[in-house]
Amino acid sequence: VTTTTPSDRAPGEVFDGTGPRKPRRGDEFECDVLGLDARGAPRGRVGVHRVEFEGRATGALPGARVRGVVTSRRRAELSARVLEVVTASPHAVPPRCAHVRDCGGCRFQDLAYDVQLEELARNARARLAPLAPFGCEPGPVLGVRDPWRYRNKMDFTFAARRWREQDDDGRHPDFALGLHASGHHEKALDVRACHLQGEVGDRILSLARSLALEHGLRPWDLAHHTGFLRHLVVRRSEASDEWLVYVVTSHEDEPRFETWWRALLAAEPRITTLVHGPTSRVSGVALGDEDRVLFGPGHVREALGSATFRVSARSFFQTNSAQAQRLLDVVRAFALGERAVGGTLLDLYCGAGLFSIALAPAFERVVGVELVEAAVLDARANAEANGVRHAHFEVADAAAWLVQQTQDGAAHAPFDVAIVDPPRAGVHESVVRALALAGPPRLVYVACHLESAARDLAPLLDGSLGVPYRLERSALVDLFPHTPHLEGVFALVRP
Ligand SMILES: C[S@@+](CC[C@H](N)C(=O)[O-])C[C@H]1O[C@@H](n2cnc3c(N)ncnc32)[C@H](O)[C@@H]1O
Repeated sequence: VTTTTPSDRAPGEVFDGTGPRKPRRGDEFECDVLGLDARGAPRGRVGVHRVEFEGRATGALPGARVRGVVTSRRRAELSARVLEVVTASPHAVPPRCAHVRDCGGCRFQDLAYDVQLEELARNARARLAPLAPFGCEPGPVLGVRDPWRYRNKMDFTFAARRWREQDDDGRHPDFALGLHASGHHEKALDVRACHLQGEVGDRILSLARSLALEHGLRPWDLAHHTGFLRHLVVRRSEASDEWLVYVVTSHEDEPRFETWWRALLAAEPRITTLVHGPTSRVSGVALGDEDRVLFGPGHVREALGSATFRVSARSFFQTNSAQAQRLLDVVRAFALGERAVGGTLLDLYCGAGLFSIALAPAFERVVGVELVEAAVLDARANAEANGVRHAHFEVADAAAWLVQQTQDGAAHAPFDVAIVDPPRAGVHESVVRALALAGPPRLVYVACHLESAARDLAPLLDGSLGVPYRLERSALVDLFPHTPHLEGVFALVRP
């Protein structure tokens, strides 16, 4: 990294990348923004030099021209800071959210949605580079029709330390209910409205806050491990217009808690279920040690196509219901290919049974494996409710279960198609080895983190684990507009 001092420059000199002189720290320049990285930070070029800007800068969007200052150089790569936007991007749109500067959640919201999709596709190609030698060329990202109010579940945090925003009005410095400020885990933004959730969700958020203040319920203090209210998870089903509220607290017995939740239910009658999950854990996961349903059936009812799904507080369900149908269509096409009805489907990391139940008519037998017991109970109930009698669901760690299936070195796991849809971290390497050993003729990997997919799939494609798979096709689906997250689906076949 070059650390030449700014005083080496001639006064007024503007670096333009032409000529033999190398750029130095403190050099100012102008460049077009050519794209954004996964964090939303702009990229550009000055002469032969690639410029990576540090962090997000308002208005520094693809198509804009910006003035920047070099902060460091490594060979032809410059790090820089945006000083100002000289020409606005034709793709800039007004942000919707009052918290856009500090939240970091919807960091692409000031960029037109069609250009967001182009940026996501470009970033995806870089993130999937390890799969390029195996013919991975995902096409355009499948976008959504409406990129707002699409989430069916939001996890909000109560915090004793409130993040101060630019237009701060100084209210309740020691109480916040909302989302973590970008890069600041111990503080929360006091979110008034989140345009990712339905409007009733905003009302529940606001009532939960005002009633907690009124009844003197203290938020959790992450530093001192004191306080009571920890998380508020709001889940809705558009299909049935049901709303589930899951409250995670630091302990069980708090005399004013019942007054609080009863007041919440009275003020918002659209809440159909309220679940309480006390936890003694110090970590910030929005899960109680054990749940108690205080009101309602304990779940919401989702619908996709002709199938219905009950989803309880602890179960995973695709968070964008409208786009989940699109994802399901891709997974179905990739899993079935040209094959005739019959055989066994393995649905590894099956959640509440979405893929198992939707694809069950095409198989003789379906086996779903999932770690969270509540999700497996949902999956069993969902199979029954949808008339699926040939699906079997097990509570197990996917790695341990699959390794067990393929023990003794024998490839005797009789699966014709395996769908693998792990959390962001991807799968343990023992799962990759067990999949290679089991060798289902068709393997569909569904990834919410593309780097994990690239790492997990490469050994199945390069022949290092026996007969290599061939990457038949791949697709990218946007389930999370305005964010850098992207879903990838990969179909692998074995000759
Ligand atoms: C991305 S979700 C996929 C769920 C399901 N395929 C769907 O589309 O609704 C990942 C699931 O893996 C489960 N899970 C996490 N770790 C696991 C493990 N070690 N073994 C089995 N399941 C696990 C989670 O509880 C979650 O339900």
